Order: sequence, then structure tokens, then C-alpha cells
Amino acid sequence: MSETGPIDGPETDRFLRACRRQSVDRTPVWFMRQAGRYLPEYRALREGRDILELCRTPELAVEATLLPLRRMPVDAAILFSDIMVPVAAMGVDLRIDPGIGPVVPDPIRGHDDVWRLRTLDPQAEVPFVLETVRLLRKEISVPLIGFAGGPFTLASYLVEGGPSRNHERTKALMHADPETWGHLMFVLGTSMAAYLRAQVESGAQAVQVFDSWAGALDPDDYLHFVLPATRELFGSLVDLDVPLIHFGVGTGELLPLMRDAGATVIGVDWRVPLHEAWERVGYDVAVQGNLDPAVCLAPWEAVEKKALTVLRRAAGRPGHVFNLGHGVLPDTPPEILERLVDLVHERTEGSTRVWEEGS
Ligand code: CP3
Repeated sequence: MSETGPIDGPETDRFLRACRRQSVDRTPVWFMRQAGRYLPEYRALREGRDILELCRTPELAVEATLLPLRRMPVDAAILFSDIMVPVAAMGVDLRIDPGIGPVVPDPIRGHDDVWRLRTLDPQAEVPFVLETVRLLRKEISVPLIGFAGGPFTLASYLVEGGPSRNHERTKALMHADPETWGHLMFVLGTSMAAYLRAQVESGAQAVQVFDSWAGALDPDDYLHFVLPATRELFGSLVDLDVPLIHFGVGTGELLPLMRDAGATVIGVDWRVPLHEAWERVGYDVAVQGNLDPAVCLAPWEAVEKKALTVLRRAAGRPGHVFNLGHGVLPDTPPEILERLVDLVHERTEGSTRVWEEGS
């Protein structure tokens, strides 16, 4: 943990203001997976430790969260954890393998497995996460984002037993036994709702639901099999009055439905141009994204060009949070992200004011 006091400069609430579509002095920027393997200092912290150990040890999770903030003036911090941490706390045996991702040796395959799952009790079962949130709030002046996995993405890891290209067993269960599927969505949805509520009550100032793989579904199946649980999840958090962010990959065709799930900020990947994505979700929600993370492996001139395109498409409209369209890739040079933060801040100074005057 930092012993030198605030490590991230003057207090700024431009991230929270943008989430609420209020005017900002500059477009806020942060990166999904900003604390990750692309940082040598993260690799050093992780050396000889399991990632779940990092997540379950508040001092280490705090340190991991702070690493990117020490390097660059991002406008938000994201709690260091993993979407599978609360799932393990629900009694599921799992591990996270380097280079692979979550592995569930005994996957959930049918009625009995699903009905055995118990709902998460955050205070009793993930106290270390809530402690990490409380410690972080004492350390940082930028807003802290809490997060959880979305119901489809968590279900996919549980049913497939690991990462999956086609999510075929998950989709088969969904269609073969809609009642069991519905219960799985219900248990995951209510558990993540309780988990996010506990994070906010411990100090998280915004929450993001990563339903990363929901884009694997067609709109009909998303509407019938996933949207109800997600709507329930977000609906149960409205009284907390914090920005609710909803993110998925490959969700171009799902964006209008995701909007109906009730989040106030929609995360978009890079497959849909930002202005089109915004049109699909409506201008009464904020948007976050949408630079292709792979672009960050190219020379700076290419990154700059693509980032400026994203900014041009945001058009200074209030309610844009600059981010990548998915997590930072491990081979990304940290300097590229440092330059990106500066570029976004420099090029958007006073931009929402311009929009307001021009509209
Ligand atoms: O900085 C941050 O964004 C916060 C930390 C964070 C992690 N996982 C830590 C982590 C967040 C927000 C997550 C969310 C997460 N985990 C998602 C949703 C976001 C997304 O990327 O779509 C998903 C699908 C997972 C499941 C998971 N965990 C995967 C696919 C992997 C990568 C496997 C690999 O090694 O390539 C993990 C491991 C993981 N979780 C890492 C990090 C920093 C990789 C580094 C490591 O193993 O130490």
C-alpha cells in the first residue's frame, strides 16, 4: 500500500460527471484491465502468487489497483479483483489459469447442479473485497469503480467449465431446460446485485457489470434468456444513485436491448462506430469505449489517429467516457496508454462546453 499519501494528484470527478452526462472540463479516460500484465510492476507483484490470492488479500489488491494510477492520470480506478471471485465464494470450486482464464473442473451441467448453487452473502463470504474497497477510498482521490460479471458471462464459465468460443453447452442448456436456466440467471443476478450493493455501501462510487460474452447471443435469445435477470439486477441498484455501467463485447445488435436493462452508461466495443452505437442506445444514456485494444500495439501515430476518430465521433457530446473497447492486451506498451491519457485530456479541454454552445 502507498505510504506517501494521495498518489493520483488533485481530486477530479469528471468521470462521475460524464457518467451522469453533465458537462466536464475534459473527457474522462480510464482503461478496462488497467491493472494487468502489460505493466511490469503488476507482473512483479503477481510473481509467485495466484491471482485469486491477490484478489483475496486486501493489501495486495489495493496495491494492484494503485499501480496504473501511479503511472498515469486516469480519471477512475477499478477495484482489482476478478469476476469469478464472488462465484468461488458461492461454493464453486474454480481456478484462474494464466493465459487461459477461469477453469471450473466440475462444470454445472443440469438441474441438480444449478439448484445446489447458493446465493452470495457478500459480508460473510467476500469480506476481503469490501475491505479492499474501504482501504482504497482512503488512498485515492479519483472515483473508484466496483464491478461484477454479468449473468450470461458467469453462466458460460460455469457451464462450459472454462473459456469458450461458441458457448455451445451454455446455449444448449438455455434452450433444453429454460426453467433451470432461468434459475441460474436468477441466482447469479441476485448474487451479483447483492455483491455490487455491498461494494457501493463500502465506498465504490460507480459499478460496472461485465457481461463480456453476451454478444454471442442473437437478440431474441438475449431478450428472453438474459435481459430479465440483468434488468432485475440493475433495477435493484437504482436507489444507490451511482452510475451503473453495462459492458459487453460484440454487442452491436444487442445495444438497444442492453439499454433496456437499465444501466446509465453503456460500454461499447470497437465493432460499431461510437456515434452509431450512441444512436442505438439513445442520447439519454452515457457511453464508454470504443478504441480497439489491438490498435495500442501499433506505433503511436496509428493509435493517435484512431483515438482522435473516437473523439470526433463523440463530438463533444456530454456523456462520453473514453476507454478501450475491451481490456488492455498484455503486449501493450504502457507508454502508449500514458500518451493516450494525455491526448484525450489535451484534445478535449472545454469540449462539452463547445457542444452545449453549439447545440
Ligand atoms: O484492472 C482491471 O480491469 C481490474 C481487474 C480485473 C480482472 N479481471 C483481473 C484479472 C477485471 C475487471 C476482470 C474482469 C474479468 N475477468 C472479465 C470481464 C472483463 C473482460 O475482460 O471481458 C472476465 C471475462 C474475466 C475472466 C478472466 N480472468 C479472464 C478471461 C482472464 C485472462 C486470462 C489470461 O491470462 O489471459 C482472467 C485473469 C485475470 N483477471 C487477469 C487480470 C489482471 C490476467 C492477469 C493474471 O493472470 O494475473
